[in-house]
Amino acid sequence: MEFQFILVEPNYAANIALISLNRPKELNALNLQLMLELKQALAELDGQDEVRCIVITGNEQAFAAGADIKQMESKNPIDLLKIDQFETWDQIRKTKKPIIAAVSGFCLGGGCELAMTCDMIIASETAKFGQPEIKIGIMPGAGGTQRLTRAVGKALAMEMVLTGKFISGEEAQKAGLVNKVVPVEVYLDEAVKLAKEIAQLSPIAVRLAKESVLKAFDSGLQEGLFFERKNFYMCFASEDQKEGMSAFVEKRKPDFKGK
Ligand code: CAA
Repeated sequence: MEFQFILVEPNYAANIALISLNRPKELNALNLQLMLELKQALAELDGQDEVRCIVITGNEQAFAAGADIKQMESKNPIDLLKIDQFETWDQIRKTKKPIIAAVSGFCLGGGCELAMTCDMIIASETAKFGQPEIKIGIMPGAGGTQRLTRAVGKALAMEMVLTGKFISGEEAQKAGLVNKVVPVEVYLDEAVKLAKEIAQLSPIAVRLAKESVLKAFDSGLQEGLFFERKNFYMCFASEDQKEGMSAFVEKRKPDFKGK
């Protein structure tokens, strides 16, 4: 997969793939082309059985400093409606395989929204999370007001969205936004390690479990519990369930085939 603004590196031996946002001079500002490429890469990787978990990263300086302000500056509402750029973002949410964001440096605006759309976030000690749209006369538009509020609660979300203040990786972890904060030298390794760990498990159970956790965000408790139960029953249609349970009983390591 060859792209202009992202690098895609599958590691089929480890059943994972790494996507790196690659507009370093612009701090990985998310222009339309980059997001289209990300959508295509995710759809492609989601369809490959050899890939079981995906890591999205930027570079040490920036995960992404937001949607591309220069590209948006002259747009009117009808332009935005026609471009319908957030439709592209929906692919991230629709990806069935788990996605881990490995974040260092600026993770702002659309960049923070992209990271929050992933399933887990590993941050470096230099990470800065924020929704600074208010400072340029707009507000978050790719899920920031919803996902940030669900992750960190109303008080901090309001403060971040209404003032544009940044929080550090450590603060983000305390608030429940990120899974782990590690030194900058190892944030990507940590994310890859986590991806490899998940990639060794049954991809069927992982897919159903991810779907069920996400359901908690868009349903009431009863509906979510019912959805979870159906997915739990569905796991028992897989060979992986038999393999996992036999391996436990036989005291050996399971070999999950995704069947
Ligand atoms: N869009 C376009 N270009 C951007 C950008 C963005 N979001 N963020 C940074 N850049 C560009 C800068 O224009 C600059 O380019 P030039 O060298 O050509 O001038 C280059 O990246 C480096 O940036 P700075 O010189 O500003 O670097 P800095 O270290 O002084 O500051 C920063 C870093 C605090 C992140 C600052 O760049 C900044 O505030 N960026 C904008 C952050 C922002 O407002 N993000 C929200 C965007 S709107 C959005 O995302 C909407 C949505 O919900 C989808």
